[in-house]
Formats: sequence, C-alpha cells, structure tokens
Amino acid sequence: MRPVELRTHRLFLDAPTWADAELIARYCRDPLFERYLTTPWPYTRADADEFLGTHVPEAWATGAELTWAIRHTAGGALLGVISVRSAEHELGFWLGAEHRGRGIMSEATVAVCEWVLEGGIAGADVVRWRAVEGNIASARVACAAGFRRTRPTDATVPARGGGTLPAWHATRRRAVEADAASSWADVLGPGR
Ligand SMILES: CC(C)(COP(=O)(O)OP(=O)(O)OC[C@H]1O[C@@H](n2cnc3c(N)ncnc32)[C@H](O)[C@@H]1OP(=O)(O)O)[C@@H](O)C(=O)NCCC(=O)NCCS
Repeated sequence: MRPVELRTHRLFLDAPTWADAELIARYCRDPLFERYLTTPWPYTRADADEFLGTHVPEAWATGAELTWAIRHTAGGALLGVISVRSAEHELGFWLGAEHRGRGIMSEATVAVCEWVLEGGIAGADVVRWRAVEGNIASARVACAAGFRRTRPTDATVPARGGGTLPAWHATRRRAVEADAASSWADVLGPGR
C-alpha cells in the first residue's frame, strides 16, 4: 500500500520522513514512553533511523502497519505519531510532550478511525485500542474519539521485554455506540 495523506480541521497526517528523525529521537526519550509503550528504551537516534528507514516503509508496503506523522501543515514539524496495525486494526499513538493538552491526538484518532472504517482498510468494521491500566491520558483520547470500553477475559497488553501487563481495552465502530461515553465512567468518572 502507498502512504495515504489525511487532513483534519487543524492537522495534516502523512508518512514520517528522515527530516523527522531528530524529533522522534527526542520525543521518544520521554519517561512516559518507558512506562506505557514498547518502543526501545533507552531510545537512541539509531532507533529512530531504524523506525524511519525500515519499519515505516516496509510496514506501509506490506500493509502490516500504517504509520502517520502528525503535523499542523504539509512539511511542518512533527507533533507525534499515530498508527494502525492491519491484522487486528489496533491503534497506537504518542505526542511529543510539548504538544499535549490541545486535543491534537483526539482529532488525529477520529481521522484515522474514520478512514479505516470507511474503507481505508478493506473489510474493517472495528478499530481496537488498548493501554496499560492507569494510562488516563490515552483513555481520554479513546473516549473523546468514540471508543467504547470492552472487558475481555484476557485484558492485557504486551510488555517491553516480554510478558504482559493489565490493560484497558476498547473498540470504535463506524457509528459511535450509544453507550460509548458512559462505558468509561469507572476510569474517567461519570459525566463523559
Ligand atoms: C496519550 C497522549 C497522546 C494524549 O495526549 P493529549 O494531549 O492528552 O491528548 P489530546 O491531544 O487528545 O488532548 C486532550 C486534552 O486536550 C484538551 N483540549 C484542548 N483543546 C481541545 C480540543 N479542541 N479538542 C479536544 N481536547 C482539547 C482537553 O482538555 C483534553 O484534556 P482532557 O482529556 O483532560 O479533557 C499523550 O499523553 C502521550 O503521548 N502519552 C505518552 C504515550 C502514550 O501513552 N501513548 C498511548 C499508548 S496506549
């Protein structure tokens, strides 16, 4: 598959490029990444080079994982990254620390979900989200983007270095489910 560009009210999403390497290396050294993601730790410039030179292009080419850079405009500075894995239609995302708290990830997540569910990935009728229990910021994004919590028996997520961690799970369908917002009450409080 060739990389796809997506536009929203405030954002432009396209494939990450070599010009993003320094920012990726810096953003991925955030201690939150050690706690909540499975990106290499400690993160080095070589990890960013491998991500940009091998993982991103190969995964777009095979369709295994579609990865977008989040920017305000075409050619603009990288704000963060969002991806969807084709096999399970599972979302992954992060923002550079200085770009949080402005709704950027919620807006990007809606755009990627709508693209996937409106035919971007043939046959996809659901997008999945998982996060390590306690990752409230990620849960707020999922809630804001119309995901509904699910409670599978094996509610886990892979941990860095093997094994699993307890996790929250949720799904997003094309039409947001009526009880999607209320399904988050126990982790985000009532009134969502
Ligand atoms: C998860 C992560 C991307 C969330 O970032 P974020 O900036 O909180 O998310 P958003 O961009 O959607 O911003 C939402 C916040 O911005 C605020 N905001 C400001 N303007 C907004 C707007 N126009 N629309 C929506 N929210 C807006 C909201 O108040 C909201 O805060 P709230 O949830 O407390 O109400 C970020 O914390 C991160 O990168 N964490 C480390 C990596 C990680 O954990 N990734 C997820 C793994 S599952």
